[in-house]
Amino acid sequence: MNVWVYDSDDKLNEAGAGIISGIVQTNPRAVLGLATGGTPVGIYKQLVGDFERGMFSFRGVTTFNLDEYVGLPENHPESYRAYMNEHLFRHIDLPSGQAHIPDGNAPDLEAECRRYDERIEDAGQLDLQLLGLGHNGHIGFNEPAHALIKGTHVVDLAEETRKANARFFPSLDEVPRQALTMGVGTILKSKTILLVVKGADKADIVRRALQGPITTDCPASLLQTHPHLVVLLDRAAAEKLS
Ligand code: GLP
Repeated sequence: MNVWVYDSDDKLNEAGAGIISGIVQTNPRAVLGLATGGTPVGIYKQLVGDFERGMFSFRGVTTFNLDEYVGLPENHPESYRAYMNEHLFRHIDLPSGQAHIPDGNAPDLEAECRRYDERIEDAGQLDLQLLGLGHNGHIGFNEPAHALIKGTHVVDLAEETRKANARFFPSLDEVPRQALTMGVGTILKSKTILLVVKGADKADIVRRALQGPITTDCPASLLQTHPHLVVLLDRAAAEKLS
């Protein structure tokens, strides 16, 4: 694993965007796994700036988002579809048919999960999966559990996760109770994994994820087994690493 620690948020975002754009420049038909949450916003902003400066095109790229809430209308400001449109998709030349996000409003959610996995399978292996980190060690919405699921599945969100995400909603009650998430099997099959974590509130979980035992109680700890894991941390998030 390669761990990089940054004092400046701008430098961290530039590094993250640079890794993604490097993959797209080398392979214009790259398949990218994308993440939402507060953490990658600056990376997307940098990527959009680089795109506007003509550094690369997303025309041949295919993307798969990690997750989506169940039951939020697509145009709800907190749906992950709306987030991706706002922070990335509407600014770049990625054809809309190549930007995949699981449909949390599908009439048959199990069938939607199977459909999503088939789409990923058809696109081939993910070249890169961008990840943030939940306070309980979740990746995507793979919550700590006795056993983890390989493929895309419906998940009951942990109370801790709903509380953490309540900052984006008018009240905790409005945070959905379920989501669809890519499974850890798919995430771990990605050729490169780019984990980005910021903030002192994540310092404990960063240590558990990167230096603790490998356990399903901390899904991110499975990333330690990945042959090409790149971790970008700000100084505060890296504080408790030995
Ligand atoms: C969310 C998302 C994750 C994200 C994580 C951290 O619930 N499902 O994909 O990485 O929690 O979010 P944030 O970056 O806002 O701290």
